[in-house]
Amino acid sequence: MLILGIESTCDETGVALVKDGRTILKNVISSSVPLHKEYGGVIPEIAAREQIKIIIPLIEQAIESVPISQIDAIAVSYGPGLIGSLLIGVETAKTLAVAWNKKLIAVNHLVGHFYSNWLDGRRDILFPAVALVVSGGHTDLLFFKNKNSHKLLGSTMDDAAGEAFDKVAKVLGLGYPGGPAVESCAEKFTRKGELNPFPKPLLKSGDYNFSFSGLKTAALYYVRGLKTPSSSPPIRGYAAGEEKRGDIAASIEQAIIDVLVAKTVRAAKDFHAKTVLLGGGVSANKKLRRELATAIKKNLPDSKFYIPDSNLTTDNAGMIAFAGYNKYTNGKAVEYNKIGVNPNFELKSWK
Ligand code: KG4
Ligand code: ZN
Repeated sequence: MLILGIESTCDETGVALVKDGRTILKNVISSSVPLHKEYGGVIPEIAAREQIKIIIPLIEQAIESVPISQIDAIAVSYGPGLIGSLLIGVETAKTLAVAWNKKLIAVNHLVGHFYSNWLDGRRDILFPAVALVVSGGHTDLLFFKNKNSHKLLGSTMDDAAGEAFDKVAKVLGLGYPGGPAVESCAEKFTRKGELNPFPKPLLKSGDYNFSFSGLKTAALYYVRGLKTPSSSPPIRGYAAGEEKRGDIAASIEQAIIDVLVAKTVRAAKDFHAKTVLLGGGVSANKKLRRELATAIKKNLPDSKFYIPDSNLTTDNAGMIAFAGYNKYTNGKAVEYNKIGVNPNFELKSWK
């Protein structure tokens, strides 16, 4: 069975062809990140304009060696995301569905991140499972009784973890996207054990919710307090030495990771998870991958821990095609006129 996946929720445009829900035949991606760099964040209008240019060439590339008659259905992410970007992906998918006479499968983008854990052919994901999905817009802890039934345990109450990385990067003048920039700046910090005491929000709150907006403010005030002669105001493009910047980046990164790890381990213990899964753009962070793996091994030695391969952590259409395959085999494909975009989609309403 062949599913064509289409992803265009934010600044990436992806098209993938996945066979039998396990083998990625094609997974092509184009990013407009370089065009947003000078603004320090995604400009929705620019993202959508790029997507409208690139989506058809990417589809052609993905299906070049496969007759259209062999494609069984088209999966498309329909939210959450930027409305202009979503419309391009969804309207393209609907047009193809009419032209090629295929069914459509509407996929929640965040569910796609969760399913990216299956993509390299792993079949031994045991249930019950707990998943942490950490992206630029969401931080969600989920409990899975089985692959198709979930409960939202907790979410961020304000900024997502990725958003915190992006905003702190802006404060430190590190550019966009912030996550990888903060990570590589933090890697230069070598004086271990001397991290700044930034807050670890809701670490001991006893629930599974997160809150990261205070970290950005804490970083801002910290930087403002550093009166360097060349920085007036000393906020953006912060001019203190590289070492100080690395020190702040490492401290903030550690604060975010500590909270993510503590809450995920607590949820996994409370719900007797046989598998713990990580997904979303922030799961590209090497320290988070390492520290969560270590904490699971220590606290839940009999549980498995899976992370998608690095190339599948950020937005891609392979994960959308795989999530689509699952819905398709559960009889959830629809006619082209039955779907629309849902920019504010929450996992609570995942069906
Ligand atoms: O899942 P994703 O590609 O897009 C959304 O659905 O939002 O996630 C993007 C987020 C951005 O906030 C980016 O800064 C963050 O993931 N990110 C990282 C890393 N790579 C990407 N955060 C921390 N460390 C990284 N290495
Ligand atoms: Zn994403």
